[in-house]
Amino acid sequence: MLKRDEIINILNDDTKNDWLFTLANKVRKENVGDNVHLRGLIEFSNICNCNCKYCGLRCHNKKIERYRILKDEITKIAKNASKMGYKTIVLQSGEDAYYSSDKMIEIIKCIKQFDVALTLSIGERTYDDYKAFKDAGADRYLIRIETTDRNLYKQMHPNMDFDNRLRCLNDLKKLGYEVGTGCLVGLPNQTIESLADDILFFKEIEADMVGIGPFISHPQTPLNNAPNGNFTLALKVMALTRIMLPDINIPATTAMETLNPNGRIIALQSGANVVMPNVTSQKYRAKYEIYPNKICLNDNPDKCRNCISAKIESIGRQVATNYGYSHNKG
Ligand code: 5AD
Ligand code: SF4
Ligand code: FES
Repeated sequence: MLKRDEIINILNDDTKNDWLFTLANKVRKENVGDNVHLRGLIEFSNICNCNCKYCGLRCHNKKIERYRILKDEITKIAKNASKMGYKTIVLQSGEDAYYSSDKMIEIIKCIKQFDVALTLSIGERTYDDYKAFKDAGADRYLIRIETTDRNLYKQMHPNMDFDNRLRCLNDLKKLGYEVGTGCLVGLPNQTIESLADDILFFKEIEADMVGIGPFISHPQTPLNNAPNGNFTLALKVMALTRIMLPDINIPATTAMETLNPNGRIIALQSGANVVMPNVTSQKYRAKYEIYPNKICLNDNPDKCRNCISAKIESIGRQVATNYGYSHNKG
């Protein structure tokens, strides 16, 4: 395994990038194979109580039109995704208190009627909520640490508490969820050293899934003048994560494709083994504007499903037909 100094050296040195990406691709192939797991992403509410400096959904952004999708429509979207062959549904939203524990439990139970694994990505909740969601049938939970640099975390997340984020990750682990986390690459004032610490953190908490994406500047946020993150650096953090955690699930993130038209395929060839296509109806897509120029805004679920299969097959890989639990349990 690589030491902190070695990770820092690799991140600082761009002369060995080809070696790094080739190695990460080999480690991916040997440990999780050529299957690519598709996770159908439902962005069911863009309402958020948080005020993360980088995110277009932050509550201080008054310029976006907000929406909530209710249980019946969520269920319909999930059913359709399951018919399209998705074996995992991801329910994602801002931190929207409207979806009380009881409301979430109903939604979870509806979706679990279909033959799918269910991932939640709805932010910080109490232990009791997480337990109730698990009991209702949720299998996995995504909550990125965003950065392990406590100072930077504070700058980026007014009114949030790094320790509570850690508490969430610990609770989810304790409850037996498969836990996904991850970080942003290219935040203002983020150091290479802290990115190395992020990778070591993923290892330390034994994450089942790690999503890494470049920061993309959003015009209606306080970071409107900050430069975008660097695609290659984000890819390097991802490749190093694969080398350090050989058998986890790593998505080729949408943010990577936003900065590079072939970003997801490049990521799949540099350590990633998961893609999370959007299965939300087209009418909502433009409103879930975490960052600008998101891909697939004018596309519908069928189009994305066909598009991504074709891309995966074009590089000699195949779409998995199992649930894609971590460590190849599924
Ligand atoms: N650029 C890139 N990624 C972002 N996220 C939020 N805002 C941005 C942005 N401006 C990411 C965060 C969050 C995930 C859902 O989206 O990492 O966890
Ligand atoms: Fe809300 Fe998540 Fe955006 Fe933060 S990153 S403002 S928690 S949607
Ligand atoms: Fe949406 Fe390609 S994945 S059009």
